[in-house]
Amino acid sequence: MKKITVVGSISMDLVTTTNRVPNSGETVFGEQFAMVPGGKGANQAVAMARLVPDLIEMIGAVGADSFGEEIRKNFTHNHVLIEHVGTVPQTTGIAQITLFDEDNRIIIIPGANDAVSSERFDSEWDVIADSALVVLQNEIPHQTNLAVAQYAKENGVKVLYNPAPARPTDMEMIEYVDYFTPNEHECSELFPDATLEETLTKYPNKLLVTLGVKGVTFHDGKAIQLIPAIKAKVADTTGAGDTWNGAFAIGITQGLSIKEATKFAILASHLSVQKFGAQGGMPTLSEMKGHEKYEKTWNIK
Ligand code: RIB
Ligand code: NA
Repeated sequence: MKKITVVGSISMDLVTTTNRVPNSGETVFGEQFAMVPGGKGANQAVAMARLVPDLIEMIGAVGADSFGEEIRKNFTHNHVLIEHVGTVPQTTGIAQITLFDEDNRIIIIPGANDAVSSERFDSEWDVIADSALVVLQNEIPHQTNLAVAQYAKENGVKVLYNPAPARPTDMEMIEYVDYFTPNEHECSELFPDATLEETLTKYPNKLLVTLGVKGVTFHDGKAIQLIPAIKAKVADTTGAGDTWNGAFAIGITQGLSIKEATKFAILASHLSVQKFGAQGGMPTLSEMKGHEKYEKTWNIK
């Protein structure tokens, strides 16, 4: 089977859980602190590798520091291939996350992620050209995303682009992309002058908008579809979108329709939010298969 390649961010998440968020000039006592591997690119790679081990290539960068070391170990432990994860002079990217009231607030310091430049790619181009699918997000420079998506398109490689977090994206990018997966907020930032329905209709079978607890919506060429989410007892929603994108990528590359891949991915993210940490709770394939909502017809291997 061909590999799936993520070109994207790698971070350490510094997570504080609190019952109160301080006002300006105020100090409060929080509940808990933890450091766990994160970053949208890395999360999506791990989400995929939990489902299909040893098939996911990560292209990205960390710093020559202890976070970088820990992150490498975490990738290996999760069966993500990291031959193309570079070590650069910048510090490893971090995300400072405050968990408050079932919600998160995140500040990112990109560090090494800003050094992921397509100008430095060498054998990485071959990895991309040999992939079944390339997966991109918005935590490395936009120029890199654009160059990778364009190259993938020229080489007949499919591209999934998750434009998260929201930032200006030139529409040229969308031409090169097969699956474009913003959430509702990101979608309205990208298409401020159109309703959700109008935007979905404009990009049938390409634009999938994740709506959190409401589910996922897309236009199938005939009509707008809404696939409902599955209610969960939430521990931590951080990384729910990454789990969805990763599982969707697995579904699509294993031949599922957009609708079935969406359902498969909804089940994966339903499981992921029940445990702490972006990557905590991302299910293995056997955990998926053990769930009552798993459909045998999906036939994921
Ligand atoms: O999508 C969740 C991720 O966003 C976290 O792991 C954090 O690193 C932020 O980048
Ligand atoms: Na989780």
